Amino acid sequence: MIQIKDIKKTYTSNKISVDALKNINLNIDKGDFYGIIGLSGAGKSTLIRLLNRLEEPSSGEIIVESKNILNFNNSELQKYRKKTGMIFQGFNLMSSKSVEKNIAFALEVADYPKEKIKSRVMELLKLVELEDKIHSYPAQLSGGQKQRVAIARALANHPKILLSDEATSALDPKTTKNILNLLKDIQKKLNLTIILITHQMEVIRDSCNKVAVLDGGNVVEAGEVVDIFSNPQTAITQEFIKHLIPEEEVEVTFSQKKGRKIIKLSYVGMAVDKPIISQLVRKFDIDVNILAGSIDKLVTNSVGHLILELSGEMEKQVESIDWLKQNKLGIEVLYNG
Ligand SMILES: Nc1ncnc2c1ncn2[C@@H]1O[C@H](COP(=O)(O)OP(=O)(O)O)[C@@H](O)[C@H]1O
Ligand SMILES: [Mg+2]
Repeated sequence: MIQIKDIKKTYTSNKISVDALKNINLNIDKGDFYGIIGLSGAGKSTLIRLLNRLEEPSSGEIIVESKNILNFNNSELQKYRKKTGMIFQGFNLMSSKSVEKNIAFALEVADYPKEKIKSRVMELLKLVELEDKIHSYPAQLSGGQKQRVAIARALANHPKILLSDEATSALDPKTTKNILNLLKDIQKKLNLTIILITHQMEVIRDSCNKVAVLDGGNVVEAGEVVDIFSNPQTAITQEFIKHLIPEEEVEVTFSQKKGRKIIKLSYVGMAVDKPIISQLVRKFDIDVNILAGSIDKLVTNSVGHLILELSGEMEKQVESIDWLKQNKLGIEVLYNG
């Protein structure tokens, strides 16, 4: 649905230039809940602002439903923007207008038939479960409620694409989950394609089917969330996963002993489909001790992690790790005793 091709963006001001995006290529399919994660300054906001042409790239192409949006004339661009909703971290509501008027405004500027505006606002408030706040003002709402109003407003003109720039970053973890669940529900109901930017891996875990990791203006890793979680390829992705707020975790402290290796095994699905651990013990005649385990529940699947302590003949321990790698399990050696 969306192809981002060789996109570069350099900002120049006072003769100083910043390469915010170096060479971005991404494919986003219809119905994706596509996450883009990166540290501050990685280029995330620049990338999302290019997608509705709040910003122009220095070079490259952005194809949406077979059309290069960079070639749109004014009227085509206006039409396209109507079909591309956006929500932000700061909600961007008008404080002097009621909830009803905030949403109605988006319809008025899009020349929505006047007599239908009221019923469309009601419909949207129902969608975001906020009907009882129709006459409230933004200052009277919680952060989560404000974001619901902003979502209703973004969806007012029946967009096909919803862009979200750190929309949950100002919210507490519980409200964040509520908003992400709402977005997932709405996506199904309205057949939306959602592109969501965040600096938190738990947001990706709880909402997205695909993810791209952005670092220094480049995509360093992209694909299905389940693949990235079970087998992260780059140090930065591993770091993001390490800082996840765990959902379920059983942890014991472990001591590092000479002659013993501690490894972290990652697998996809609720359980390893082969009896890996008993095979390990039998095949290599080593001892395996389970020290800890955790599960990340993703939108499409789960990724489990086990921390194992290996002991026994050193050569056999090394062989067993190679064997695990051959079995396509994610392996990280935490301690090489
Ligand atoms: N309008 C601008 N003018 C100059 N530099 C900018 C502008 N917007 C962003 N940048 C720079 O581009 C880089 C990427 O910024 P941004 O896209 O906002 O990253 P993120 O959203 O990932 O934090 C940063 O180095 C930032 O300072
Ligand atoms: Mg940003």
